[in-house]
Amino acid sequence: MSIKKEVPLAQLLEQLRQQFEQAQLFYGHGTDNPWDEAVYLVFSALGISYDEDASIMQRLVSEQELARLAPLVQQRIEKRVPVAYLVKEAWFAGYPFTVDERVLIPRSPLAELIAQEFASLVKQPPVRILDLCTGSGCIGIATALGFTQAQVELADISEAALALAELNIERHGLGSRAKAIKSDLFTALEGPYDLILSNPPYVSQTEIDDLPPEYQHEPVLGLFSEEEGLAIPLQILRHAADYLSADGVLIMEVGYSHEALSARLPDVPFLWLEFAHGGEGIFMLTAEQLRAAKAALI
Ligand SMILES: C[S@@+](CC[C@H](N)C(=O)[O-])C[C@H]1O[C@@H](n2cnc3c(N)ncnc32)[C@H](O)[C@@H]1O
Repeated sequence: MSIKKEVPLAQLLEQLRQQFEQAQLFYGHGTDNPWDEAVYLVFSALGISYDEDASIMQRLVSEQELARLAPLVQQRIEKRVPVAYLVKEAWFAGYPFTVDERVLIPRSPLAELIAQEFASLVKQPPVRILDLCTGSGCIGIATALGFTQAQVELADISEAALALAELNIERHGLGSRAKAIKSDLFTALEGPYDLILSNPPYVSQTEIDDLPPEYQHEPVLGLFSEEEGLAIPLQILRHAADYLSADGVLIMEVGYSHEALSARLPDVPFLWLEFAHGGEGIFMLTAEQLRAAKAALI
């Protein structure tokens, strides 16, 4: 960062925008362009509220603040560290979550369904919710904030991830309504759940090797799944029915593995959901459909 002397915020952001553009960074962790990326980094690192009016652009950024920002900008450009890890915060479904390299950076299109409280997908407000493969806890916690009477369990195989999920449970004041549980998929869990949500690992090794360097900072445990990405999603599909209530539903993300999954299970009636704000590869299946499909899932 070449600016060293006190400067208006607008000028600093424009300089960073140009630097990010020249460095050809990859955007996929909360923003999709260099200006928004600069705003995310500077506002979060300096504790500036996103609710400020336009006059905030005239605010002067002090020399001390510039000195604090410089190493973050350097890591973003030279090491390609995503901003969320630099400022330890990501936004999901309108809520802030504490994140670091122990968890994947929240970005699931499921956020859109959560914001709509799963309108038309669930018959009545779910009482017991499971967020399987929870990472930071973002999906389960944001869902529980919408369904204020629900109990939510956040399950992950990684103790490191669960430590962060617990921090986020506390941050959002869910108290005894939320529980973080160490579990290899369903093994330590007890149903029945009315709603199972999952954004499991579904990326094959070849695809991981091809990902932009920003993604190489994320835990491989959060991305990688055997059998061309399908091993973990298939395991969840095989067992979900045993953990759902009679009217329960499973909503799971498999991203760009959706074509491979449909091709592998042509007789399973996946309902692939559509998103106004982008994203694909999220399906819904009812408990009834999963039970009926058991033979096809073996
Ligand atoms: C794609 S990340 C999703 C994190 C979070 N749900 C989100 O959307 O940001 C997948 C998570 O699954 C966890 N995981 C991987 N294998 C697992 C297993 N066998 N059982 C439970 N969790 C697992 C990883 O530790 C990681 O936190």
